[in-house]
Amino acid sequence: MNETPERQDQTGGEAPGPSPAAPHWHLELDEDNVAWLHFDLAGSGANVLSKAALEELDARIGEIEQAGPRGLVILSDKASGFIAGADVREFTGLAEEDQAYEHIRLSQDIFYRLEALPCPTVALIRGFCLGGGTELALACRYRVAVDAPATRIGFPEVRLGIHPGFGGTVRLPPRIGHLAAMDMMLSGRALSARAARKLGLVEHAVPERQARKAARTLALQRPPATRPPLLKRLAGHRLVRPVVAQVLRRHVAKRASPEHYPAPFALIDLWRRHADEPKAMMLAEARSVARLMMGETAQNLIRVFLLQDRLKGLGRRSRNRAAHVHVIGAGTMGGDIAAWCALRGLRVSLQDQSPERIAPAVKRAHGLFQQRLKQPRLVQAAMDRFVPDSNGQGLAGADVVIEAIFEDLEVKQALYRDIEPRMRPETVLATNTSSIPLGELSAALAQPGRLVGLHFFNPVAKMQLVEVVSDTATDTEVADRAAAFVRQIDRLPLPVASTPGFLVNRTLMPYLLEAVALLGEGVPPALVDRAAVDFGMPMGPVELADTVGLDICLSVAEILAQRLGGGVPDTLRDRVLAGNLGRKSERGFYEWRKGKPVRGKPARDYRPPADLQDRLMLRLLNEAVASLREGVVGDADLLDAGVIFGTGFAPFRGGPLHHARHTGPEALRAQLEELAERHGERFAPDPGWREV
Ligand code: NAI
Repeated sequence: MNETPERQDQTGGEAPGPSPAAPHWHLELDEDNVAWLHFDLAGSGANVLSKAALEELDARIGEIEQAGPRGLVILSDKASGFIAGADVREFTGLAEEDQAYEHIRLSQDIFYRLEALPCPTVALIRGFCLGGGTELALACRYRVAVDAPATRIGFPEVRLGIHPGFGGTVRLPPRIGHLAAMDMMLSGRALSARAARKLGLVEHAVPERQARKAARTLALQRPPATRPPLLKRLAGHRLVRPVVAQVLRRHVAKRASPEHYPAPFALIDLWRRHADEPKAMMLAEARSVARLMMGETAQNLIRVFLLQDRLKGLGRRSRNRAAHVHVIGAGTMGGDIAAWCALRGLRVSLQDQSPERIAPAVKRAHGLFQQRLKQPRLVQAAMDRFVPDSNGQGLAGADVVIEAIFEDLEVKQALYRDIEPRMRPETVLATNTSSIPLGELSAALAQPGRLVGLHFFNPVAKMQLVEVVSDTATDTEVADRAAAFVRQIDRLPLPVASTPGFLVNRTLMPYLLEAVALLGEGVPPALVDRAAVDFGMPMGPVELADTVGLDICLSVAEILAQRLGGGVPDTLRDRVLAGNLGRKSERGFYEWRKGKPVRGKPARDYRPPADLQDRLMLRLLNEAVASLREGVVGDADLLDAGVIFGTGFAPFRGGPLHHARHTGPEALRAQLEELAERHGERFAPDPGWREV
């Protein structure tokens, strides 16, 4: 990053580089006696406020106190951004609440010391500025943000089950107003430089080339600090807060329950009690975060964050970068995969049997670009990258070819025989098949090792996970390149073995089929869904089946039943035969109006079966255990990651296996045995439970 244009701007001078005593923060004085404090965390691609980095910051502040410069500018030397927040890894090693509290208090004190410096202080923000990074910026007198798409300023803490803890709850409301501050912290949404400027969070949003100058000018000219207008300050008045807090609580409760996600409720409470007494609030903030951090939800959400990091790491095994992707099959999946790749900056050619079959995909792609990129110039550039190609001319130049044609072994094999001679030898061939074993497909290839599965989920633009499917014939390097490609388009790769249903469909299907069985017994769909949502699933299984399409569910269920045994309920087959396919035909298990299911109200005296939730969730857990035992994924953590990111499995429970271990595998096994006696063999506990 030291080579960026910013370096040529002479107003800031060169950073002196790391020294053994000060590996993370480098301090320099320029000719006007302005101090520039560069953060460049040693051995890391991104700046995080680890304990070591905070301690060193404390020492540097001490030096600045001694040197007495005219001003101080804090900036990052990382290309990736300013500061990504506290070091989440350190949150997992804490033994007890008091230890967490002490750590937070120390950090708060360092920020106090920064705030108390006699000279003006400026945070120069470029790229991400999150959590503790934003709190550090708030402890400065002024902030300048580089107006570039990569600049994102926010407080994502609630997503980790905590809230800001380094003084953010204290310093943000007086700066941007109470309601805006609570909204930022409760939603975890990050702001662009311009949005931050509009809110008054930063003084200036400027182009990169002017950033240093703007920071330096603020430090030297010391303009008076701005405050939000009276109206914005009013919501924080002692007499108004209880009412506002109640409204906020109600609002948050619509999205999250206090037992599952306590952090936003704790934040509202903290604010209601202390928003006009900064010192008390600072202490209460530390106490509240320490308590939350030791709780199960935060520990599990931190686990999920680290699992996500692990999946991202799997994409770094190959340094290969694709420039051009050729997608064959412009249907539901191929069309959307192609559009997503173009959105992420790749050149894409999209092939199908005729231009008419490609046209709908082009239209959908345009819609996606407009929705995500907004600026006409960027939309046009994405359209230029997205080339309809009914003759398959793009094939020869592609780095990756993704096949997403009909789910039919012979049709796919015929295609492979036809295209392989026209592909470069190093080109990766990926299939989006959801059910055909890789070995059967690659039998048609001269180079079987080049075939890998890239199993995307529908809708492509929403589903983060992509299963990277290998079998014994797949070259390891090809699988690594496929995973790197998945990261390149900003999805999460999960390596899975070519087994029926891979991981996600396999674990999801028994749960969906149990829901269908419950419907067959007369349980109203809304109650089936409620049981799953109460467990923490983002959407109930009936609504999910209707959304995915009952025809697709049926075909996956039939293939899995063929390969793994088990039946498919007639209730499902009947709906499909009657043309009731779910949301897309406005009628499935629910009736759909304007894209929403009509849930109806069950009869007043209706009581759902007492084991409703267990029946749903234990089938999922049992299948997860079976999948691990059979080696569908490499280990239990990968399984948890896959099920969380592929199905939305209650993140605050840390994944199905983690949840099973936590609840007690023996108890769950016994419960499965009971259910098997009551409802049949489909509940028979998998032998893998002994290993959980
Ligand atoms: P689709 O039926 O919507 O689209 C398939 C497209 O492939 C059609 O436009 C067809 O004209 C084209 N095609 C067929 N043979 C061709 C050939 N020889 N050359 C060029 N184009 C050809 O199918 P969909 O749903 O997009 O599925 C495609 C693949 O993705 C299948 O393997 C399916 O199992 C898999 N998949 C589907 C998911 C879904 O939710 N629909 C989810 C994950 C995977």
